[in-house]
Formats: sequence, C-alpha cells, structure tokens
Amino acid sequence: MRLIFIAPPGAGKGTQAAFVSEKYGIPSISSGNIVRAAIEEGTEIGKIAEKYIHEGNFIPDDIVIKMIEKEVTKPECVEKGFILDGFPRTLFQALCLDNKLKELKLCLDRILILYVPKTDLIKRLASRRSCYHCGATFHMKFRPPKVEGICDKCGSELHRREDDTPSSIKTRIRLYTHETIPIIDYYSRTGKVRRINGKGEVSEIFDSITEVLENIK
Ligand code: AP5
Ligand code: MG
Repeated sequence: MRLIFIAPPGAGKGTQAAFVSEKYGIPSISSGNIVRAAIEEGTEIGKIAEKYIHEGNFIPDDIVIKMIEKEVTKPECVEKGFILDGFPRTLFQALCLDNKLKELKLCLDRILILYVPKTDLIKRLASRRSCYHCGATFHMKFRPPKVEGICDKCGSELHRREDDTPSSIKTRIRLYTHETIPIIDYYSRTGKVRRINGKGEVSEIFDSITEVLENIK
C-alpha cells in the first residue's frame, strides 16, 4: 500500500502514520523526522536545514526531494509500500514524486487528508512532546507518556520541538494553507483522495482511516 498523509501541523499525521505502519507492516516516512535526525547528527543537510525548520519554513525542494527519493526506492518500500508523512508539501514535490513512481512503475493507492480546526491544532502543538530517537509523539494532556518526560516506545528523553513556538506554528499553518492545500486539488483528479475528520479520539480517527484502507480495491 502506498499512502500519503496531507494535513496541517499538529493534525496527527505522525500519530496516525505510526498506527497504520504497525497495523499493516508498512514503513512510515516522515520528512520532518528525517530532517530532525540529520540536524541531531550534524550532517551537511542538517546544517542547511536547521534554520528553515526552526523558523517553520520549508526546506528547499531539492534537498527534501532527494531525501524522499532515497527512501521510496529502498527495497523495503518498493516491496511493501510506504506512508508518506509530510511529503509532498508543494506542487513541484508532488510532480517529482509522480515522476519517480512512474519510473519505478508504481502508483499511489490513497491520499488521506486529515481535517482539524485551527484552535485544536494550536492546543495539540502547544503541549506536544517528541522523541528525537524513535520519532514517537505524545501530548502532556491528551496522550501523556507513562513516565513523564520519557518515551514509552524506546525509553529516550522527550523534548519540546523547537518549531513548536507561536511564531513558527503561525508560519507552518500559513505555508500549509498557501502551498500545500493546492496539491489536494491536483490529487483529486486521481479519484484517490479521501477526507478524514481528524477531530476526536485518536482511536476513532484511526478507525476512519482503517475503513478507507480496507476498501482499497
Ligand atoms: P513535520 O515534522 O512534518 O511537521 P508538521 O507538518 O508541522 O507536522 P507536525 O509533525 O507538527 O504534526 P503532525 O501532523 O505529525 O501531528 P502529531 O501526530 O505530532 O515537518 C517539520 C518541518 O520540516 C517543516 O516545518 C519544514 O521545515 C520541514 N519539512 C518537512 N517536510 C518538508 C517538505 N516536504 N518540504 C519542505 N520542508 C519540509 O500530533 C500533534 C500533537 O497532537 C501530539 O502531541 C499528539 O500526541 C497530539 N494528538 C494527535 N492526535 C490527537 C487527537 N486526536 N486528539 C488530541 N491530541 C492528538
Ligand atoms: Mg509529525
């Protein structure tokens, strides 16, 4: 199964992608997690990306596209499929992905759009805690870890993401509205777009996603 999650910051892309990945055994590819790992490791890409990510701006297309092409062409992804969380975010990225998939003679199965009101996005991001080691996300109130400050999954320390600040959140939401929403139209022509209500309990949202995925012919 080859899936894309499109949704604004804080909508639950990472949270739901982790559930889908576990249930269906498909690798989840988060562009944000890959970039954050590069920053942690201090790689050349990490050094370039740091300023963009902290301000909430998009990282240049050429960097992100190369990164994602490397992931989707890995044997595991070619064989099992993938969940793209956070890519594509621009029309140009979507066109490049299409070309790459055409080259590999593969196609997308579903493009899932999560809808969450802006006030909820802000509440979710304000108290999110993230694991830089395994990428898991928690929320101090809505999804607290079992032990405060420690990741349930891998035992690493949890952090507040540096782009979860009011000014960066504002930039990220603005970019989503202007740059990313237009690609929903682009994908609508394929008949593979499904719209999901992203408000409510995590498990209810996952049920809606599962229903969509079970109906892929
Ligand atoms: P990225 O890491 O993808 O950030 P984002 O798009 O801003 O999205 P988030 O990760 O903040 O939110 P999410 O939807 O994953 O929500 P989550 O599941 O964590 O990208 C970061 C940056 O990298 C970008 O700003 C850019 O700089 C760069 N970048 C990445 N991709 C790029 C690209 N393609 N092109 C250019 N630049 C790129 O949930 C949020 C919180 O809510 C958590 O606390 C969670 O526990 C909680 N929560 C989840 N679901 C619920 C629920 N149902 N009810 C209550 N709380 C919930
Ligand atoms: Mg995320």
